[in-house]
Formats: sequence, C-alpha cells, structure tokens
Amino acid sequence: MIRPFSLPDLESILQIENQAFPKSPYDWITFLNLHTLYPETFLVYASTTHGQKEEKILGYIIFSQDGHIISIAVHPHHRRKGIGRELLLRAMKTSHLKKAWAEVRRGNQGAQAFYSKMGFQMTGLVPNYYGNEDALIVRWTPVACESN
Ligand SMILES: CC(C)(COP(=O)(O)OP(=O)(O)OC[C@H]1O[C@@H](n2cnc3c(N)ncnc32)[C@H](O)[C@@H]1OP(=O)(O)O)[C@@H](O)C(=O)NCCC(=O)NCCS
Repeated sequence: MIRPFSLPDLESILQIENQAFPKSPYDWITFLNLHTLYPETFLVYASTTHGQKEEKILGYIIFSQDGHIISIAVHPHHRRKGIGRELLLRAMKTSHLKKAWAEVRRGNQGAQAFYSKMGFQMTGLVPNYYGNEDALIVRWTPVACESN
C-alpha cells in the first residue's frame, strides 16, 4: 500500500535512509521539514504481513508538485521487487505532472539503471553537485514514457 507519510513512520524511514545513502543521509529534522513542505507527496510503501496488524515500511518517495523527485529509497532487503517502480509510477501518474526529473550520483549505477528502465533520459550533469561527486540529471515526460 502506498500512503502519505505520518510521524510514526519516521524511525523506519531513517533506517532505510541510512542504508540507502550512507554518505549523506537526511536526518530526522530534514524529514520533518520535508513532511511540512510536501504533506501530500511524501509517500511511503507500507506492507502488512498476513495475520499481523503491524505495518512495515519498505520504501518512500518525496516529490514536488512540479515533478522534482527529491528522494526515493527502498529497504535493501526488499529491492528488485517492483517497490521503487510503484513509488515512482505514483509520482509520474500524478495528474498535474507533465514532467519529472531527479539528480543521481554519477557513481550510482543502480539508480541510473532504475530511472532508465522507468523511461527517464539523462539530460545533463551538474559538476560536484554532491561536493566531491557529479550529479546526472535524469528527466521523464509522458510522451517519452508512452513510447517505452
Ligand atoms: C533505486 C531504487 C529506489 C530502486 O528500487 P527497487 O524497488 O529496487 O526497484 P524496482 O524493483 O522497482 O526496479 C525496477 C527496474 O529497475 C531496474 N533496476 C532497479 N534497480 C537496479 C539495479 N540496482 N541495477 C540494475 N537495474 C536496476 C531493473 O530493470 C528493475 O526491473 P527488474 O528487477 O525486473 O529487472 C533502490 O535501488 C534504492 O533504494 N537504492 C538506494 C537509494 C537510491 O539510490 N535512490 C535513488 C537516488 S537518485
């Protein structure tokens, strides 16, 4: 299930974040700020095991109304199961989005392959965006996706 982030999700989100981005994880204050800024588009992927009440948070995405993918991450134990795809599709299908874009570390080949599979194209590079590492800019438009 994909639903908006709520405060009890914070601990799980921080755990996913620390494993996904060990070099520069967002801290809890950043996530609370992002929740304030993007209450409708800070989404979590939550799973409930059959017979259990408690949800597990397996991933999250934060995007702006104009299509900037601010962050997306999936728990390392649950990757390559289509969770990232579902989260990103939700952003891409948001009706008023006519485009989407993200920054990706030049060395993050997994994320580059993921965005490419989702119909994004590399359109630019920002030198030293991450301090000592360049960012690739990846972009998607509905037309590009339909032909994919
Ligand atoms: C990038 C990320 C969000 C993808 O999430 P995911 O749930 O594993 O992705 P999906 O299972 O939906 O993958 C969809 C397709 O993308 C491609 N893909 C995803 N991860 C890939 C990888 N590491 N290497 C190559 N291709 C990959 C595959 O084609 C995959 O389909 P397949 O498994 O049927 O071959 C996840 O790897 C992650 O959290 N990475 C760390 C954080 C990160 O880098 N975020 C992006 C920063 S810009």
